[in-house]
Amino acid sequence: MSNNVFREAPTSPRLTIYFDDNHNGDGLATLEDYKAIFEKHFIGAQFQDVMEWCSGPAFVGFTFLAEGIFRNLVCADIEADVERSINKTLEHKPNYKHRVKFIHSDCFDNIDQKFDLIVGNPPHFIDDSSQEYKTFLKRNIIHKTEYDCDRTAIDWDWAGHKKFFQQVRQHLKPGGYVILNENAQGATEETFEEMIAESGLQKYAVYASTNPSRPFYWYMILKG
Ligand SMILES: C[S@@+](CC[C@H](N)C(=O)[O-])C[C@H]1O[C@@H](n2cnc3c(N)ncnc32)[C@H](O)[C@@H]1O
Repeated sequence: MSNNVFREAPTSPRLTIYFDDNHNGDGLATLEDYKAIFEKHFIGAQFQDVMEWCSGPAFVGFTFLAEGIFRNLVCADIEADVERSINKTLEHKPNYKHRVKFIHSDCFDNIDQKFDLIVGNPPHFIDDSSQEYKTFLKRNIIHKTEYDCDRTAIDWDWAGHKKFFQQVRQHLKPGGYVILNENAQGATEETFEEMIAESGLQKYAVYASTNPSRPFYWYMILKG
């Protein structure tokens, strides 16, 4: 569901990302953390094939493409309508068209590629019962319908995470990495321990946000 109004986020001197409020999952607030993660753990690295799971408008993907850290980008989201935002960004960046592709997909369902890096900002809550979720809903309801909020914020019974961890290994190139942004108000490291163990990935590092307005964000970095 889209409200047809595009907002603009100039996330790098070379790039403006277009998005609509219904598909904004706060990814803009994660960019400084990603920058710090690349500087701390992947200094000088360039990732050839990158997938942004749960991409929405692909704030992370487009930004680090513009920064030269990502070369090619697959944006994947269960919500087909996010493609409009991605296409709008590409309209203004035609030279990225051959490097960026959107795939409408639940986790990896329609994807047969393997990647050097998979990033993602998935829904952070298991259901709608917690006070933290209700606070989230109140903060975001101004621009969104309740339906869209749920889609953005809730991963019922962690079904999406479970499916992601079941499928992810076969989509990582040897030695590839996964970086997922999570929210301590909805999940801790322990929440995903069993899923990670079954995925066959190794825990590489955990990074706590240094964004003073989002102290609850944390990032798990996994290695294939
Ligand atoms: C927290 S929002 C993140 C949006 C955007 N990446 C950002 O950072 O602002 C979560 C996104 O995940 C998508 N999503 C939820 N479940 C999914 C699944 N199983 N597979 C792919 N995308 C999913 C939603 O449609 C939504 O766009």
